[in-house]
Amino acid sequence: MSSLSERPANPVVGQAIEHESAALHVTGHALYTDDLVGRHHGVLHAHPVQAPHAHARITRLDTSSAHDVPGVVRVLTASDVPGINDAGIKHDEPLFPDEVQYFGHAVCWVLGETLEAARRGALAVEVDYEPLPAILTVVEAIEAASYQGMAPVMARGDAETALASAAHVFEGEIDFAGQEHFYLETHCALATVDENGQVFVQSSTQHPTETQEITAHVLGLPSNRVTVQCLRMGGGFGGKEMQPHGLAAVAALGATLTGRPVRLRLTRQQDMTMTGKRHGFHATWRVGFDDALRIVGLDATLTSDGGWSLDLSEPVLSRALCHVDNAYWVPDIRVQGRIARTNKTSQTAFRGFGGPQGMLVIEDILGRCAPLLGAEPDDLRRRNFYVEGQTTPYGQPVRHPERMVLAWNQVRESATYDERLREVRTFNEEHPHAKRGLAITPVKFGISFNFTAFNQGGALVHVYKDGSVLINHGGTEMGQGLHTKMLQVAATALGLPLSKVRLAPTRTDKVPNTSATAASAGADLNGGAVKNACEQILGRLTELRAANPEASWEELVRLAYHARIQLWAAGFYRTEGLSWDVTTMTGSPFKYFAYGAAVAEVEVDGFTGAYDLRRVDIVHDVGDSLSPLVDLGQVEGGFVQGAGWLTLEDLRWDTSDKPTRGRLSTQSASTYKLPSFSETPTEFHVKLLEHAHEDGAVYGSKAVGEPPLMLAFSVREALRAACAAFGPPGVSVELASPATPEAVYWALDEARS
Ligand code: MTE
Ligand code: MOS
Repeated sequence: MSSLSERPANPVVGQAIEHESAALHVTGHALYTDDLVGRHHGVLHAHPVQAPHAHARITRLDTSSAHDVPGVVRVLTASDVPGINDAGIKHDEPLFPDEVQYFGHAVCWVLGETLEAARRGALAVEVDYEPLPAILTVVEAIEAASYQGMAPVMARGDAETALASAAHVFEGEIDFAGQEHFYLETHCALATVDENGQVFVQSSTQHPTETQEITAHVLGLPSNRVTVQCLRMGGGFGGKEMQPHGLAAVAALGATLTGRPVRLRLTRQQDMTMTGKRHGFHATWRVGFDDALRIVGLDATLTSDGGWSLDLSEPVLSRALCHVDNAYWVPDIRVQGRIARTNKTSQTAFRGFGGPQGMLVIEDILGRCAPLLGAEPDDLRRRNFYVEGQTTPYGQPVRHPERMVLAWNQVRESATYDERLREVRTFNEEHPHAKRGLAITPVKFGISFNFTAFNQGGALVHVYKDGSVLINHGGTEMGQGLHTKMLQVAATALGLPLSKVRLAPTRTDKVPNTSATAASAGADLNGGAVKNACEQILGRLTELRAANPEASWEELVRLAYHARIQLWAAGFYRTEGLSWDVTTMTGSPFKYFAYGAAVAEVEVDGFTGAYDLRRVDIVHDVGDSLSPLVDLGQVEGGFVQGAGWLTLEDLRWDTSDKPTRGRLSTQSASTYKLPSFSETPTEFHVKLLEHAHEDGAVYGSKAVGEPPLMLAFSVREALRAACAAFGPPGVSVELASPATPEAVYWALDEARS
């Protein structure tokens, strides 16, 4: 066992404790960035001027009448930018654009004494536009060859030859939707400038370091002049990995120009119309099987809808390609990826980061092909699982494939799959107008950032003279329980009770050069760094401890201080053994794979397509859990969010030729259906895989944030099975994604005829 993963006796990690802020969350005492506004004097409020075109040249921008509006203090435009007028790192995202790239694009920002004054000021700004043709859908983009960024190919063997000699070959196409993050806390930044010109931005950001860098480059300042702090987020889900930067920069620009605090908080409607979402994809595929129902070859093209700029579209696409295999061995494979450029918000990270999109393609293929092969879907899936010794299409050995089988068998058993399949069939025979469907699907998800350099973490641990401990680390808290886990890691590493350790908010002047809290790697990276810092401190105390074996911790610390021993340390961790070659799309980018399996049962109404998620069983692999309650919450939440993406949440843009072309039609909770309590499964059994120690990670744990989202494919496949039950035996069902009740109705109606 590695020293990183080995646990001491009676560790604090592994204890089922509540989220560190649970009481604050439920009593409303937890502070979010916008709650800080009331603690500042003279705060100005920022409001955008949003363009009413999907694509247009700005021919005139006149801000003078805004200044006549009472309470308006200043209007920020491109000419105010002292540094680089760009909100991204690819330099393809002008912060103040001269060409509007999507409906709702912010042209300039008005600062007012009140939000209402700023809003009225924004209405008074005069802008003339010359409308330009707009590309909205991926299909339109493909027709117009409108692409951006890389177009990688991931290939192994010879897919063409494999398909030519395969016993069974099928082909198909699917266009599937993205997803709105709908974090409860919308984007928010609050910027102040101190007497030395130090800029301080409090931001709801998953990536404080990059928020700092972008703010600095917009202001034309070195990074040491800008500090970013994130108290916590009311959800990020990937939506606050890149999207906060430009907004923070606008607030900081306002603060430097006026000398007053500037608050920028998007309303829900602004957040939905201005910020990026999960990428929808279009995919075409040809797949071959042998007579033993094994996949022999796959040739697919995946085109993501990147929106107007690159943002994170390239790494999202890479991860999609790396997950087209999901849990299945595909000997000969060729997958081409492309990024469409459309006149929509710039699509971005969302829980799973392209992984779910890649997996949807293979799960859709298996779901559609099973009946065509005369196979049971669960049998078809199971036969194609990886076995020891096999590698992924990008060349990484698949370690512990037996855990996939373990989770699969365990959930099959606990869900009494075989018995319930018989019950479902009996039910379906007896009910002409209602059908049930049961399905089981696997998840294999790679953990680490594909881009090797991002796999580093930092921490700062202070032991004060009284023996109390304050920790700081580079990760951000968005509800996922990272801070809870870091407290447990520190207490474990120092051998102290949890009550001795406190945690301070994430700040770039405490831990610099951090990676985004993303890729589910927060606990792996920052946990490694916290542990490292604690061990440095303990290392310095070794001699003193040997000389004072009976001393209490407080006594030991007091002695150490008097002996002039440094009682704080900066910790660092980098994940070893990773490699990734982006030009050949090969390497071993992942430290390990997280595995899981889910069984879902639905009932579908034949008159309306309305359905009920009757029961879900999950067995998921989190290694040896750092914090079991937190992890259970992550599995449940991720699953429900995935079910939302696949079955409910329906982003619609106006694709007509009217002047409103390109407007997001679903821009509030009234038109965008999110899963709520009524859509969570009536019966929901979640278990963590036992005895799942992961040797290469902090205290034997595995990442948990994203993988469970993809367990929700079981719901989609159960819906497909229920639709098929309306038709003759062996009917292959094409199901739209999201499989909304309407889409389910059309699918079952098709199966019926
Ligand atoms: N859980 C909650 N409650 N809120 C969130 O915003 N984000 C998810 C996941 N779980 C999220 C969440 C995403 S997209 C990621 S990448 C991980 O948490 C990030 O945190 P971690 O690396 O600490 O798991
Ligand atoms: Mo998560 S999509 O990697 O922020």
